[in-house]
Amino acid sequence: MYAQLKEINQKPKPFEFYTADSLWATPHTSEQMLSYHLNEDVDLASRNKVFIDKSIDWISTHFSVGEQTKICDFGCGPGLYTSGLARKGAKVTGVDFSKRSLEYARIYAINEKLLINYIHQNYLEYNPEEQYDLITLIMCDFCALSPVQRKALLTKFHRILKKDGQVLLDTYSLKAFAERTEISLYEQKQLQGFWSKNDYYGFLNTFKYEREKVVLDKYTIIEEEGSKVIYNWLQYFSEAMLISELQDSGFRAQAFFDDVAGSGYSKNNSEFAVIAVKN
Ligand SMILES: C[S@@+](CC[C@H](N)C(=O)[O-])C[C@H]1O[C@@H](n2cnc3c(N)ncnc32)[C@H](O)[C@@H]1O
Repeated sequence: MYAQLKEINQKPKPFEFYTADSLWATPHTSEQMLSYHLNEDVDLASRNKVFIDKSIDWISTHFSVGEQTKICDFGCGPGLYTSGLARKGAKVTGVDFSKRSLEYARIYAINEKLLINYIHQNYLEYNPEEQYDLITLIMCDFCALSPVQRKALLTKFHRILKKDGQVLLDTYSLKAFAERTEISLYEQKQLQGFWSKNDYYGFLNTFKYEREKVVLDKYTIIEEEGSKVIYNWLQYFSEAMLISELQDSGFRAQAFFDDVAGSGYSKNNSEFAVIAVKN
């Protein structure tokens, strides 16, 4: 018991483990996540509908989206952005490793008579021959990746973007980092059964890595037949940190915004968005 509690409270090295599929893509968690995505009032897995509609309008205008525009949305979920952008006429590809979200997205596209290319794959392993005008990675998914994964992803973006292609992504800011605190929490059936349909005991340990500006929410879920650990990492960024990472992969930060709906850059938001172009 003591040894197990010690392990639960153990702080790993930053980004030591990658378990994003346990959060998004198991049969049980993907069902929970899909309901969060589709809940138009909460900003848990996707942002709310009012924001997404605003974002799609802004993206369409800002990037002059038309019939010739080829867009790839990394981590597209149930297709809330891909559908809107396809409606604006773009040729859209969406990549996600949640089978359940993509099933929803595909059926939605058929019903709405939208032609969208959905790819069920880990986007870190997606290596198309195709080239795009615009790549999107929305809702701070960039922050869930390790420095090595981010570098590999940006290098790929560079390869699969046309010469004048652009990337739009958002990240959490250092303001949001300052607001995070370390906690240790124990709860039976944590998050109202989010982690399993069976009974379980859930531990949440939140660790802060001050030097790296990283936070880990480490969930240890103990069921009768075994236990699992889910590591939800978040990298928080300053403008300078993001500029430097982009530069290392051959990109220039062209413009900053408070969010992916083009809100003016206040430098005081808990997240911010960047448009990156190839050097
Ligand atoms: C925070 S949600 C955002 C979804 C969508 N961009 C939106 O804003 O509505 C992150 C999405 O990325 C997907 N995802 C996370 N890591 C992934 C990976 N390595 N490969 C493919 N999809 C991934 C999840 O399944 C989820 O649909």
